[in-house]
Amino acid sequence: MDIKHPIYMDSHATTPVDPRVLEKMLPFFSETFGNAGSIDHSYGTVAADAVKVAREQSAHILKANPDEIFFTSGATESDNIAILGVAEQYFEKGDHIISCVTEHKAVLDTCKHLQKKGKDITFLPVDKFGLIDLEKLESAITEKTVLISIMAANNEIGTIAPIKEIGKIAHKHNVIFHTDAAQAVGHIPLDVEGMNIDLLSFSGHKIYGPKGIGGLYVRRKNPKVKLTPIIFGGGQEKGLRSGTLNVPGIVGLGQALAIAEKEMKTEEKVFRKWTSLMFKSFQASMNGVELNGHPSQRLAHNLNVIFPGIESKALIYSLKNDIAISAGSACTTTSVEPSHVLLAIGRTVEQSHTAVRFGLGRFNLINEIEYTIDRVESAIQNLNQLIYSKN
Ligand SMILES: Cc1ncc(COP(=O)(O)O)c(C=O)c1O
Repeated sequence: MDIKHPIYMDSHATTPVDPRVLEKMLPFFSETFGNAGSIDHSYGTVAADAVKVAREQSAHILKANPDEIFFTSGATESDNIAILGVAEQYFEKGDHIISCVTEHKAVLDTCKHLQKKGKDITFLPVDKFGLIDLEKLESAITEKTVLISIMAANNEIGTIAPIKEIGKIAHKHNVIFHTDAAQAVGHIPLDVEGMNIDLLSFSGHKIYGPKGIGGLYVRRKNPKVKLTPIIFGGGQEKGLRSGTLNVPGIVGLGQALAIAEKEMKTEEKVFRKWTSLMFKSFQASMNGVELNGHPSQRLAHNLNVIFPGIESKALIYSLKNDIAISAGSACTTTSVEPSHVLLAIGRTVEQSHTAVRFGLGRFNLINEIEYTIDRVESAIQNLNQLIYSKN
């Protein structure tokens, strides 16, 4: 099959909407456009029924109850509602939160906002693979700790956190456990019961659903988690997230999750094979190529590598018409700051500027993987020649 350029390999930034998802969404923009809150007529009830299905689909993949799913505009909003909602509700009991230095800005900056207001926030360090030390986590808990917020999978280096063990520690100390699972839901199996998760953020556009839609799981028993709303209005989503429901988005999110639940295992195997092939090929053709993140406890579709001496921006620019890849997280691409995640795992500023992130996706084909291997290698050779000719 012919390759369409540029080949998209930036799936941690976003993914295209799966045609099967789009098909389910389309009627909700036109013929069945009702407001899911206007249930006095069939326009509204059709929309409300569709939202109900999506809520069930969202709950199913997390092994949650549909009552525990709240739709939001995405993982950023879910993280804010979870962290600020806990802060408002529980800070009289204690005002200490434990998080981690490699979190997404949606968690980091929300915690820093509370820190500026005088609240006590511990940002745990990580090891060279991007993992927190569980003993350090447990010893950081005080009688004032009300929340632990640790991401399920890192958006830059793909490291998967030991969520089950973290949940166990949190519950042993009666601390609420929130996880930002924007990069994990639909990619790795998650189970809010088995993993003692109390709050979980997820997003549509990382799993072949639309942008601007996401959700928050909120545990309703053992223990019941109460959140003070941070958005006020019409009282939708049981008052936790007011605002007219984005019905097409919600329908798309539900369908994307239903597809992911069915296909995740097969996809994982293929991605694991392809990212391993890419890494081995890069290592075989160049000296000093290194992996960022954990060698095995990692998202199968993530490959974050250091090409020593090659400025990642120069490489990405030279590949621009052929392959769409990224230097780090999409949310920080406007800044020239080194990645906070790469620095946290012990990379130098110089090394962090040589890291490239490949994010494989559902619609990639093996010939695209093979092309990428060859094209990256030739681009690096050209850049090396330029560097030598300048020196
Ligand atoms: C780990 C993580 N959390 C949160 C977000 C923000 O998600 P959204 O774009 O749905 O607000 C992202 C997106 O890059 C992410 O990777």
